[in-house]
Amino acid sequence: MNKTIHRAPTTTRIFDDRTLETDYATLVSMLQPGMHVLDVGCGTGAISAGIAKRVGGSGYVTGIDNTEHFILSGKETYGSAGFHSIEVFNADEVYRRDNPNFTARAGIWSKVAGLKQISDEGWIDDATRLQAIEDYDRWVDEEAESMTMKLNEVRGRS
Ligand SMILES: C[S@@+](CC[C@H](N)C(=O)[O-])C[C@H]1O[C@@H](n2cnc3c(N)ncnc32)[C@H](O)[C@@H]1O
Repeated sequence: MNKTIHRAPTTTRIFDDRTLETDYATLVSMLQPGMHVLDVGCGTGAISAGIAKRVGGSGYVTGIDNTEHFILSGKETYGSAGFHSIEVFNADEVYRRDNPNFTARAGIWSKVAGLKQISDEGWIDDATRLQAIEDYDRWVDEEAESMTMKLNEVRGRS
């Protein structure tokens, strides 16, 4: 049995409002022209776009995200903002039961759900979050044949 996570398309607006300078101020001083940066979980690419400006034409930023409509939205927004040569690659990671450390690798999502932020911010109530952790861990231990981390990799030039 495999489980799939779906996200609401409206989330793109929240990510588009974010900027490198406002939301990742501590990163700004680390970025130098010419750097190659990997932005894991780039959302719609709002932060990646800020990084791209800082690393300049001799640098490179690669954003990866597993939510397809964030990638599509980012392509549309930043393509028309002057970024070019935008390419999207499938970069799914597949963990199978017979891989070493399968339980730890597939179990990553119950560790993510261990963050109380999810219920503190009102996405789900705390009892449901804890139940989800229990259900997921049981699934990984007893039933899971594989877990696919859906990843799209996006490359573009400014
Ligand atoms: C909190 S958001 C941050 C988005 C963006 N970096 C920002 O700061 O605005 C986390 C992002 O990670 C992505 N994500 C979650 N799990 C992922 C995975 N396994 N692989 C790639 N991206 C993932 C989500 O789709 C989401 O866009």
